[in-house]
Amino acid sequence: MSQGKDAAVGKPMDRVDGRLKVTGAARYSAEFEVPDLVHAVLVMSTIAKGRIRQIDTQASERAPGVLRVITHLNAPKLTFDKPEQRALIDPKVGKHFPIFQSDTIYFNSQPIAVVVADTLERAQYAASLVQVRYEEQTPATTVEAAMAQAFPPTESSQGGRHADVVRGNPDALASAEVRVEGSYTIPIEHHNPMEPHATIATWQGDKLTLYDKTQWVYNTRKHVALTFGMPEENVRVISPFVGGGFGSGLRSWPHVTVAAIAARQVKRPVKLVLTRQQMYTSVGFRPYTVQRVALGASKDGKLTAIVHEATAGTSMYEEYTEATLDATRMLYACPNLVTRYRLVRLNTNTPTFMRGPGEISGVYALECGLDELAYTLKLDPIELRMRNYAEVNPEDGLPWSSKFLKECYQVGAEKFGWSRRNPQARSMRDGRYLVGMGMATATYPMFRLRAVAKARLLADGTAVVQSAGSDIGTGTYVIMTQIAADALGLPPERVRFELGDTDFPYSPVQGGSMLTASLGSAVQAACLAVREQALSLASTQPNSLLSNAKANEVGVEDGRLFLKQDASKGESYTDILKRANRDYIETEKDSEPGDEKQRFSIHSFGAHFAEVHIDPDFGLVRVSRVVSVCDIGRVINTKTASSQVSGAVVGGIGKALMEYTQMDSRNGRFINANFGEYHVPVNADVTAIETYFVGEPDLKANPLGARGVGEVGIVGVSAAIANAIFHATGKRIRDLPITPDKLL
Ligand code: MOS
Repeated sequence: MSQGKDAAVGKPMDRVDGRLKVTGAARYSAEFEVPDLVHAVLVMSTIAKGRIRQIDTQASERAPGVLRVITHLNAPKLTFDKPEQRALIDPKVGKHFPIFQSDTIYFNSQPIAVVVADTLERAQYAASLVQVRYEEQTPATTVEAAMAQAFPPTESSQGGRHADVVRGNPDALASAEVRVEGSYTIPIEHHNPMEPHATIATWQGDKLTLYDKTQWVYNTRKHVALTFGMPEENVRVISPFVGGGFGSGLRSWPHVTVAAIAARQVKRPVKLVLTRQQMYTSVGFRPYTVQRVALGASKDGKLTAIVHEATAGTSMYEEYTEATLDATRMLYACPNLVTRYRLVRLNTNTPTFMRGPGEISGVYALECGLDELAYTLKLDPIELRMRNYAEVNPEDGLPWSSKFLKECYQVGAEKFGWSRRNPQARSMRDGRYLVGMGMATATYPMFRLRAVAKARLLADGTAVVQSAGSDIGTGTYVIMTQIAADALGLPPERVRFELGDTDFPYSPVQGGSMLTASLGSAVQAACLAVREQALSLASTQPNSLLSNAKANEVGVEDGRLFLKQDASKGESYTDILKRANRDYIETEKDSEPGDEKQRFSIHSFGAHFAEVHIDPDFGLVRVSRVVSVCDIGRVINTKTASSQVSGAVVGGIGKALMEYTQMDSRNGRFINANFGEYHVPVNADVTAIETYFVGEPDLKANPLGARGVGEVGIVGVSAAIANAIFHATGKRIRDLPITPDKLL
């Protein structure tokens, strides 16, 4: 990599796609212009459980402009239960929602028909004419009501992390000198990205092209190919821009399949855009989760027992599980621990990963519990965490690849002004407002999967690098450009990075904060390889100044290879390629993780500090300041990394104070399925957010030394805010979100 002052990595470089986005030139899935396009509109069920007794589509079919109405009665028979259809991000147990395959109703607002017409308005009108008679049964809608039927996940998926875990003495809590215990609930929350999910499907003979909003084009391709029983090569998925994902685009959801079915039946390209309301039952959500956290400690503040149990909702046809209890097992040194995970089947669609999935819910409960323990022990919350600092991972005894959590606490406390905090609850005021300060720890594991990138160096001294990754707004375009530029020794303006197309080499999902480590490593490898190719071309050219030069003797800068011993001896890529009579040279590189996870425990860490001002008469909470300090290994782009954390903090404010999908438990219907009533923080709710990074490149983690920043920024934020609210008011609110009514 090119180092020093000219390196692009580490700089706050602007997004290369920023201009396209703000000028409207960036093309999102629903915006592709495809000739002869027609429109599809879904019809949703109005009951949550039962069967369709009769579905009358005649009036709809006769409506103006209608080309086709498709229901379970005339849809093709498809495959949803092949084991290879269970992708990494799919629940391990169950099968994809069997769209249009039977008359069974599993959840309210389930897609039961699709109307295709020549215009959107005609399709919408005709969809309203579909008449359905149901045989209705009583649905299971709430975790609490179904708690007696809670069961452990069928299969210990993902390394057995959902099996019961006992470390040390399971009864240590009973003999602890000091104990705290509480029950916490996380409501259903929805991702609510700005861009709704949309798919344009177009068949050319037996080949299918999908313009689809997705965080993983290769997965959509594979899922759709298996569903239709066609070779993967016959499906192309294109998704160059994604207007926010937060996890809603990890899986391939039923509407994608519907668009493909419809396009095949009407023999024209079909566009299907989910309405905001349909998004609530079409692309997953964060599951409702009930947790119990009990902590035992000695009087000097050493944890002696942790019990953490979680019960979460899933659907009738899949077992969705997430990492709710994972952080509890690794975050603090504690000899005795019990974790238990349970599921409850509900008449909802399947929940899915959402913004820091699992960790965010579990760490919320754990970090509130620690805060409570700190008050009980009359110990500073940071000091309590320091006394239980895990010098190795207590779960497996592995050393950390790199861990600067202490520095996160120290820097955070200093920047935030923690020393100004009066430890007494309800002791600080600003005029009539109650003031509170709280903190919490954050962590998120590093994941890395195989990725492939292709680098092409052109004779004009520019380069094009391609891989099928996504950019859900996180900055993939710019950071991959930076990584490629440094590996090639080119200024970033001369590198173009392309993504979001299955015609490009394989990329894993953009999710789980793993794309930088996974794809970045492949981009770096491909670019280093093409640079070596240029050097070997030069070294065989008889009159080259680099003849017989070895790779380690050669430096590169500004598109010019030179001898490190004598920088005046060198040649530009352009000269080398021209002399060789080549328009370009290119290389594709596969990059896979090695055995680093057998040798090290690899996690990002962070500490969040929040200050709140609370109106004591109205219970209104204003988050007046947040300071977040993260250790993410190498920071590829200080600007986009900082944006990731501050965006995550905004998400954490939403989770702590506002976000809440309300269900009518009588009929399983989400009643606030719109932006008017599902509240997220707006500009006025967000005041000062400061972000800092500590630590150093983590070269034990991967060749880039970057561990990922997407999710560590949100884990712990809602706990820091809840702890600040306790500090301000003396009220421990364990059920999120902390709305004003709960503080009165
Ligand atoms: Mo993230 S919830 O893995 O998109």
